[in-house]
Amino acid sequence: MKFFVDTADIAEIRDLAETGMVDGVTTNPSLVAKSGRDFFEVLRDICAIVPGPVSAEVAATDSKAMIEEGLRLSEVAGNIAVKVPLTWDGLKACRTLSGRGLMVNVTLCFSANQALLAAKAGATFVSPFVGRLDDAGHEGMELIEEIRTIYDNYDALATEILVASVRNPVHVRDAALIGADVVTLPPAVLRALAAHPLTDKGLAAFLADWKKTGQEILR
Ligand code: E4P
Repeated sequence: MKFFVDTADIAEIRDLAETGMVDGVTTNPSLVAKSGRDFFEVLRDICAIVPGPVSAEVAATDSKAMIEEGLRLSEVAGNIAVKVPLTWDGLKACRTLSGRGLMVNVTLCFSANQALLAAKAGATFVSPFVGRLDDAGHEGMELIEEIRTIYDNYDALATEILVASVRNPVHVRDAALIGADVVTLPPAVLRALAAHPLTDKGLAAFLADWKKTGQEILR
């Protein structure tokens, strides 16, 4: 399963990329606003750090303008994935942009039928938002199971399931068990994946015992 990081914070991306765990990046208008920076500068910085897909979302709502914006965003670097919302205009833009050989991430997916449409429109990625579904009283992971089943039923549906709106490590484990292709993680959730209290406790005990031996490995 691929790990994307869900942030427009360059320092975080650089730091996490050094772990070798970052296969791509997703941004959205809220994350860009949070960064307080120019969108194109942020994208250029991210693409210089991460060679994998970097999602950049259009701001237009009609398909013609979405296509124009998508083409402009794709000029930033060869690894830009144009992000469009799951509306009919977004699907039309997806069809055109993917037909021109660009990666397209269809975002704001909240149902299996929407995911089916995204795949038929030629999306590279579909982004179901599990955390927001959980917040609304649904089971976000049930949607991932449904999409996995539907995509696996048809060889022609080649879209990757990019699990978005991830809030905790349980989401990551469950997405991996279901066989999602990608999860996009807030930096704090990616960091939390390595944490376990028994690891900390065990390491402290080993270090204490090692000290008792009075030995050094590098002498
Ligand atoms: C995905 O591409 C989105 O940027 C993101 O995962 C949304 O997450 P949120 O629901 O925490 O805002």
